[in-house]
Amino acid sequence: MFPVKTQAIKVTVALLFVLMLLPFYAAKAQSGRQTLDFDKGWRFHLGDDKNVESTSFNDKLWRQLDLPHDWSIEGTFSKDNPAKPEGGALPGGLGWYRKTFTIPTTDKNKIIYIDFGGVYQKSDVWINGHHLGFRPNGYISFRYELTPYLKFGGTNVIVVKVDNSVQPNSRWYSGSGIYRNVWLVKTNRIAVNNWGTYVSTPRVNAQSADVLVSTKVRLKMPASSVNINTTIYNAQGKAIVSNIKSNITLSDSISTVNQTLTVKSPVLWSVDQPYLYKAVTKITQGKTVLDTYTTNVGIRSFVFDADKGFILNGKPVKILGACDHHDLGSLGAAVNTRALERQLQILKEMGCNGIRTSHNPPAPELLDLCDKMGFIVMDEAFDCWEKGKVDYDYHLYFKQWHKRDLEDQILRDRNHPSVFIWSIGNEIPQQADTAALRIAPELARIVHSLDQSRPITTANDQPTKFNQIVKSGAVDLVGYNYHHQLYEKFHDDFPGMKFIGTETTSALETRGFYDMPSDSIRRWPIAWDKPFSNPDGNGNVVSAYDNVSAPWGSLHEETWKLIKKHNYLSGMYIWTGFDYLGEPTPYSWPSRSSYFGIIDLAGFPKDVYYMYQSEWADKPVLHIFPHWNWKPGKVVDIWAYYNHADEVELFLNGKSLSVKKKQGEDLHVMWRVPFEAGTLKAVSRLNGKVVLTRTINTAGKAAKIELIPDRNNIKADGKDLSFVTIKILDKDGNVVPDAENRVNFKINGQGFIASVDNGDPVSHDPFKASYRKAFHGLALAIIQAKEKAGAVNLTAESEGLQGASVVIKVK
Ligand code: GAL
Repeated sequence: MFPVKTQAIKVTVALLFVLMLLPFYAAKAQSGRQTLDFDKGWRFHLGDDKNVESTSFNDKLWRQLDLPHDWSIEGTFSKDNPAKPEGGALPGGLGWYRKTFTIPTTDKNKIIYIDFGGVYQKSDVWINGHHLGFRPNGYISFRYELTPYLKFGGTNVIVVKVDNSVQPNSRWYSGSGIYRNVWLVKTNRIAVNNWGTYVSTPRVNAQSADVLVSTKVRLKMPASSVNINTTIYNAQGKAIVSNIKSNITLSDSISTVNQTLTVKSPVLWSVDQPYLYKAVTKITQGKTVLDTYTTNVGIRSFVFDADKGFILNGKPVKILGACDHHDLGSLGAAVNTRALERQLQILKEMGCNGIRTSHNPPAPELLDLCDKMGFIVMDEAFDCWEKGKVDYDYHLYFKQWHKRDLEDQILRDRNHPSVFIWSIGNEIPQQADTAALRIAPELARIVHSLDQSRPITTANDQPTKFNQIVKSGAVDLVGYNYHHQLYEKFHDDFPGMKFIGTETTSALETRGFYDMPSDSIRRWPIAWDKPFSNPDGNGNVVSAYDNVSAPWGSLHEETWKLIKKHNYLSGMYIWTGFDYLGEPTPYSWPSRSSYFGIIDLAGFPKDVYYMYQSEWADKPVLHIFPHWNWKPGKVVDIWAYYNHADEVELFLNGKSLSVKKKQGEDLHVMWRVPFEAGTLKAVSRLNGKVVLTRTINTAGKAAKIELIPDRNNIKADGKDLSFVTIKILDKDGNVVPDAENRVNFKINGQGFIASVDNGDPVSHDPFKASYRKAFHGLALAIIQAKEKAGAVNLTAESEGLQGASVVIKVK
């Protein structure tokens, strides 16, 4: 206790301090907070050096770059890289980043933070030679406060050491470096804390919904009194309801303020209409706005029901999800919002409505997009707990770091309406171990201490009653990885429990490569478990008929038929939406990326994409395959996926090859046809009326290139992308299905080639290049905008082919 007099002096000094600061707050930005993109102008060095953290270190000769940056993706494929083909066969290593920046003296009374979206793998950060901290989890977002160490009005240096040298530390491609965005955040001394709001909607009906906003306010000054005003705006930006808490005395360093706002006739967030409100929380003192903090709000109610499955806003919704790793194909791990958006658009177009962030917290931008685009996200924390799966896995850090990492993930992600499920682990090696009885409940307590509005699951590859995680009572949903044979026994094994297919299928395909299911001894519908590949020995390729799967998985159609049949099976997350770098099952080197995707690494759909589209999407679908270039006399299986029709008729060179109708649970129809060059035509009909027609012609020799940008206008923000598909065509415009022509690109204007690809899991050509061979007739060039408005000219040439060029506007 202070003597009374001293205390009084202290209070007076404190008040004076507050008064001195007030005009300053008023003079600064109205909102009271600035969040600055801190991605530009870093220096990078791959390799170690001495005294790099010191302010006097000379980095002038280091490479200059902008973040996000992944140095692994710039490297050369080799089976000897420590990540191994399972980790993408690209180099790891240790790298340093430095950024020199100034902070104006006018910021002297601000509190200044640096926010990292994610750094892979282990990071140490220094400001002006002062060590700020270490994080070993390469997928976690974190913040450091810089204020006490900054030179206001002077030069400051932030230094980041990134160590990804000890490998394997992951079962898939991780990337290396500051691969997510970085921000500099400036707030007043009274401000909403980091991830400082928690919005939930415990009562929702058609008439009204209660939105609870709990705000943590951080006080970095003596006790003070403020008003907290939260207003909810609708999607048109109209204020619809406000709540003011006046004269709140803040005395602790962090104070919590709870507000309940009732929204009348709420527009509910759903996968078809992902309607977002905004909660804007203002902290004011008199007329001065000390902080403005915006949280997106989706109003929705949901339950998982043991019998009825997933119910969203009172209606059953099947979760039609995909698991994805974090890499963006040839862009590597370096996050790019447009690249993420494109992936989600391709999935949405297929009818997919769910994403599992396997097996780690995702980039924050992914969740923003899922909120806007309507995905049901299973947000996953760990791939292992105390026992690892590879030598240098997170198990080395779990004991010391799991609480901090899990808390940070929940705090960061709990306001996203798209997040519906927390997964506290994938295929945890300790499922059968009594250690799970200790660890699982502890993790569940951590999650529930921060969010009680969502269920917890684990993705179990041992979904039996002996599973210790389920036994521990920690999970609300029983997650099955594979084991579709056990789905129909679910209620016997887990009476009264709720089901989620956390991971399913693991079927394998190479886009554009076909082995006739009818020719195989292991005939459809039996998965080829060994060898996985084609019996003709055509190299590391896998047939794309949906006739090959990993032995622990199933063909695509098999699992979907079951999920579709039973209401209690609330949904599935298919392994995987997109091919990813690493885990080239069923092969290893020279393969370096996966075959599991419904869509290849370049973003080109494989045929099975259209099976899902015909089942999941609303639009009419008719897809026939394979291509129509075979040796004369070869008997070919022709498959058709269709919907919105009751029959499909196939014609070869004008002659009908019969009408086929799906029977019972069928998801495709098939003809077996001796090849004859010409035109294959399929017509789908409903009640005799034509719904859709598709034709495939026998392609002639490769003659020309076609360039198809996904967007002709991109933003001049240095980040936006146009994905240009390259097609190798014959003289009549048919894609040449076996074309492998090397295409050379020239680019000028306000853009550059961010990367190239073709979806071939075996190619060792660099992704950062100005050439690419086609793979089954297709390739991809990703064009990134510079920061000046203008145009990009992309020209593609290939020996013996007519070239092509395209103009993309940069605005
Ligand atoms: C699962 C695992 C995934 C991936 C997949 C391949 O068991 O959870 O990470 O390895 O197998 O089929």
